[in-house]
Amino acid sequence: MIKIIQLLAMEITPLSPQEILQLRAETKGTTERIHFNNAGSSLPPDVVVETVISYLQEEATHGGYETEDKYAKEMEHTYDLIAKLINANRDEVAVMENASMAWGLAFNGIVFNAGDEIITSEMEYLSNLMGFINVQKTRGVKLMVIPTDEQGNFSMQALENAISPRTKLIAITHIASTAGTIIPVVEIGKIARKHQILYLVDACQSVGQLPVDVKEIGCDMLAVTGRKYLRAPRGTGFLYVRKEVQDKLKLILMDGFTAEWVTEDDYEIRNDCRRFELTEKNRAVFLGLSKAVEYILNIGVQRTWPRIQQLATSMRGQLEGIEGVTVHDKGDQQCGIITFSVRGMDSATVKSKMAENRINVSIGKAKSTLIYMNRYQLSSVVRASVHYYNTEEEIDAMCRVLINIMMTLACIA
Ligand SMILES: Cc1ncc(COP(=O)(O)O)c(C=O)c1O
Repeated sequence: MIKIIQLLAMEITPLSPQEILQLRAETKGTTERIHFNNAGSSLPPDVVVETVISYLQEEATHGGYETEDKYAKEMEHTYDLIAKLINANRDEVAVMENASMAWGLAFNGIVFNAGDEIITSEMEYLSNLMGFINVQKTRGVKLMVIPTDEQGNFSMQALENAISPRTKLIAITHIASTAGTIIPVVEIGKIARKHQILYLVDACQSVGQLPVDVKEIGCDMLAVTGRKYLRAPRGTGFLYVRKEVQDKLKLILMDGFTAEWVTEDDYEIRNDCRRFELTEKNRAVFLGLSKAVEYILNIGVQRTWPRIQQLATSMRGQLEGIEGVTVHDKGDQQCGIITFSVRGMDSATVKSKMAENRINVSIGKAKSTLIYMNRYQLSSVVRASVHYYNTEEEIDAMCRVLINIMMTLACIA
C-alpha cells in the first residue's frame, strides 16, 4: 500500500500494454520460449545483440585498435550512462567483466588486520562468503552474520548490536540469488554512515530490477553484473567506488591503464575508479553493456520495477494455490525472484520438465547462499525469475505446465 502511494506521489506512468508488446518485439528471445531465468541471465534486447555482433565484425575487417578508436566516444559515454543509472559520478565507475571481479577487487583492496570484524547477512552470496572465510583464515578477521527474523526480515537491531569498535566492514547482498527477499540496504547504509564503517553492497540481482541509488544507499562500494536484470551480454559488469574511498583501497592488479610512470622507479595511480580496470577488455560486450544501460534508462527502471513486482506477486499467488507447491520467499520486501519446491519432485526434474515445454526456470542451489539455505534446510529450490517483458499469460502457462507435470508424475493425490 505504502509503495503504491509513493508511486502515485512520484507520478510514475506504468508501462502500457502497447509498450510491453513493443519491448517484447524488440527482444527476439521472447518469441522462442518463456524465459523465467532472468536472475540467471535475462534475454538481451536485440539492439544489444546487434551492437556486439557488428562491433566484432568491424574488428575483424578494420582491426581491433582501429575499431576501438572509432568507438572511443561511445565507450567513454558508457561511464556517464552507468553513473546516471546508479546516481554516481562518472569517475566513480569502473567497467568489469563480472560482479565477482568487481566485488573481489573492492573487498581485497581493504587492508584487514587481525581482530577486525566483518558484518554480513545470512543471504550473502557464495563467492563473497569465500572472501570472508579467506580473510578469516589468513588475517584473523572475525565474521558476524546477522540472521533474518521469523518473518524473514533483516534485523536492524541485531545489526546495531553486532557493531563494535573493531567493525571494519558491513558487506551486504541486496538480493540473494536463491530467495525473493530484498535486504534493506538504505537503512543499513544509515547505520554504516553513523558508525563510519566501510559499506560494500553486492547489487548483482538488483541493478536493472529496481531503482538503485548509491547516494541514497550511502555505500562506499557496489558490485554489479551485466547479464542479469540489466539485460547486458554475459561477461560484463561494473564496480562503483565512492571517490573518497578510492585511495583507501589497495590495487590488486596494475598495468599501464591503472597507473602512469612518473619516473623509472615510481608510478602515479589514476585519479578515478578506472584504476580498477586493465587495458585489455572485450570491447564488443563493453559496448553491449553500454547499450543495455541506455535501454533501461530510456524506459525508466522506476516504471519497470512495479511491473516486475506485479508479475512476481501474481506468480507467487498462483503457485501458492497449487496443492503440493511451497513458495519459500520471505520478508516484507520481495522482488522478481520466486523460489519454490514441489512435493515429491526435485528441482532438477522440475527444471528439465519445464524445459521440455520451452519454459526456462533455474535451480537455486544451497551452495549459492549457504547460510540461508542451511538455516531453512533447503538443499535446492526451483527459481522462476520474472522481468518486465514477461507476461501474465506466460505465468498462467507455466503454472498449467507445472500442474500437468505434477499430475503426470502423480504428485497430486
Ligand atoms: C547475488 C549475486 N552476487 C554475485 C554473483 C556473481 O556474479 P558474477 O557471476 O557476474 O560474478 C551472483 C551470480 O549469480 C549473484 O546472484
